[in-house]
Amino acid sequence: MSFNPMSTDQSECYLNGVFQPLAQCQVSVLDRGFIFGDGVYEVIPVYGRRVFRADDHLARLSRSLDAVGIKNPSQANDWLALVRELIARNAPDDQCIYIQVTRGVAKRDHAFPQGVEPTVFMMSFPFPHVPEQKRAQGVACITAPDLRWRNAHIKSISLLGNVLARQLSVESDATETVLIRDGLLTEASASNVWLVRNGRLAAPLRDHDKLEGIRVGLLQELCGEIGVKLEFRPISEWELRCADEILLTSATKEVLSVATLDGKAVGQGKPGPVATALYSAYQEAKKSQSH
Ligand SMILES: Cc1ncc(COP(=O)(O)O)c(C=O)c1O
Repeated sequence: MSFNPMSTDQSECYLNGVFQPLAQCQVSVLDRGFIFGDGVYEVIPVYGRRVFRADDHLARLSRSLDAVGIKNPSQANDWLALVRELIARNAPDDQCIYIQVTRGVAKRDHAFPQGVEPTVFMMSFPFPHVPEQKRAQGVACITAPDLRWRNAHIKSISLLGNVLARQLSVESDATETVLIRDGLLTEASASNVWLVRNGRLAAPLRDHDKLEGIRVGLLQELCGEIGVKLEFRPISEWELRCADEILLTSATKEVLSVATLDGKAVGQGKPGPVATALYSAYQEAKKSQSH
């Protein structure tokens, strides 16, 4: 018998109106998510059973659905009620809520099917906290060409380009693969990337070549609060390689320092003052901005 990672999973999920054990949840093989990767998703962090930046995540879900022409099956309030119900049905205090909406089940044909309801799937998994030692030391990253499609701003479930990029870092025992397109930094396989030079934080321009992480708006707010200068501008590969600090952000990494890039130390080769200050500010925001 083949390995089924779900067989021992005790968590509850949600599929098309029904809460049920993940181990028993099934979708049709004709679901367009399975056949074409035709859908979008969100990952929402939950701390102490409270949802962090829920409005931002649900607004981005709505933008992703609009961008691919799938009708949003719920209003923001209804989404939030489902998210809260799912949190209540699962054991960990710190969770991640995964939401996926696909174009639904239809006979295989590239064109959008008519009169088909989207498939709505939600699951919870324990929040994968970054181990303290990794946080304290910073992590290793490698670089690779960004070979993904030009609509990376959509949080699409078609993640093959990201999967292949991430696998490169797995094979190098690194935490992330930082992506370069046309000589410029875009993002990483599952994180946004920031750098510090001369005490100023810089992030690449917000455009279709990268996902605008929820932490992008949040770090902008935190920089204002703690007095760090931030600019959004094109960042060359050269500038990346001589940065004083490099930071990764994502729902699960929060703010994570990069200690080495392609085997060379970044700055002092350990978390620098800007990353450390932003990480602390992030921890404070978690207390005040979770609902
Ligand atoms: C490609 C990519 N960029 C950036 C991010 C960071 O986004 P967020 O801060 O919303 O988690 C993610 C998160 O998974 C991602 O997959």
